[in-house]
Amino acid sequence: MLSKEDNERLTRVGPGTPMGNVFRRYWLPALLSSELPKADGAPVRFRLLGEDLVAFRDTNGAIGVVDAFCPHRRAPMFLGRNEKCGLRCVYHGWKFDVTGKCLEMPTEPKDSTYKDRIRIKSYLAWEGGGMIWAYMGPKEDAPPPPDMELTRVPQTHRFVSRTVQDCNYLQALEGGLDSAHATILHNVTIGDLSWLDDFERTTPKLDVKLTDYGFSYSGIRKLDGRHWVRVYQYIMPVTQVRARCVPVRGETAPPRVPIVAGHYWVPIDDVTVSVINFSYSADPTIPLDHDFAMAAEAGYGRGPDDVLPDGRLKRNLQNGFQIDRDLQARESFTGIVGINTQDVAVQEGMGPIVDRSEEHLGSTDRAIVQLRRLLLDATRAVEAGGKPRGADSASYRTIRAVDQYVASETDIPAVIDREIAARF
Ligand code: FES
Ligand SMILES: [Fe+2]
Repeated sequence: MLSKEDNERLTRVGPGTPMGNVFRRYWLPALLSSELPKADGAPVRFRLLGEDLVAFRDTNGAIGVVDAFCPHRRAPMFLGRNEKCGLRCVYHGWKFDVTGKCLEMPTEPKDSTYKDRIRIKSYLAWEGGGMIWAYMGPKEDAPPPPDMELTRVPQTHRFVSRTVQDCNYLQALEGGLDSAHATILHNVTIGDLSWLDDFERTTPKLDVKLTDYGFSYSGIRKLDGRHWVRVYQYIMPVTQVRARCVPVRGETAPPRVPIVAGHYWVPIDDVTVSVINFSYSADPTIPLDHDFAMAAEAGYGRGPDDVLPDGRLKRNLQNGFQIDRDLQARESFTGIVGINTQDVAVQEGMGPIVDRSEEHLGSTDRAIVQLRRLLLDATRAVEAGGKPRGADSASYRTIRAVDQYVASETDIPAVIDREIAARF
């Protein structure tokens, strides 16, 4: 559990809040590149950390992230004309470039220098890994743009998607770092959890190891006489990376493409989160088949047929996630279709911001406790004028997650060392 004060401290992300100030020291993936598909195309309005913004791709392909409202009389910039290297407000024609500089003021006298003194609020933007990133903090503290395996793999090897969830970012992030729920919530048997006695309760060795970027957490289980080693990564502030490389229960062959995957849970505001889902081929010699990735999306319940135009799931809180009680009685633990939908159902169902002072944590919540500790530490570090952990991607640029079988226990550290290193 957490005090009400710490819960507030961790969950509020607007300008001037402790956690808002922490988020403003990291590059955050705001949109997918595919949302700004072409130069001089339609600007996109979005919210990030409680601020209303507009992104546009100018004539040269450069990305601008600016205030959603014109500095003249606050007309909406998303209506703007994106033309000749700038976004022009349609109300009186003031025009701004990607850095926020005012280029033209057609309503002012020709010899006026007023435009040189006016800027639209703008943030640093960068494009990589199929995503548009923004940095919303003090410019002098901006770290170099993100550099991780996902941002380096060729486009042929990666897949990214984005959905929107109606809850605070932290309960969604906590869901992603809570590996214990997977065998219960996502179980496709009906309520018979006896196999867990053997599989989860008696054999796993769970470990959380602090790193310069967050932590890695591993689970080692004995399975069919071998050791199944999984190492996940938590990269501050909102990234989880996992791997899927070996056959799991019921499968006879490994996945067609060994995968490194994960999510970014980026706060839109205090009660809404943008979830970027990514996967890439773990093997440089095998590209990621787009159809395969789309089929996986559908399996997660976030395929094209499952998502509304605003990014929210069709199966959502308003319609009870279309829970099917017959299905729940017959063949699925939850009766909710889609693995991701099941996650969203519990996360949104907790309410917009869960009251953590009412919780009773158990032995499987160690990663969650560590997560909260790191984020609280980060708020204090920034308040003291320092840098939060992992703001510079140099600390995690060469890592990935692990999913391997190891025959002998003594080989486990060497296998982790080898498998955790980036190949791209
Ligand atoms: S409100 Fe934008 S130019 Fe006047
Ligand atoms: Fe899950």
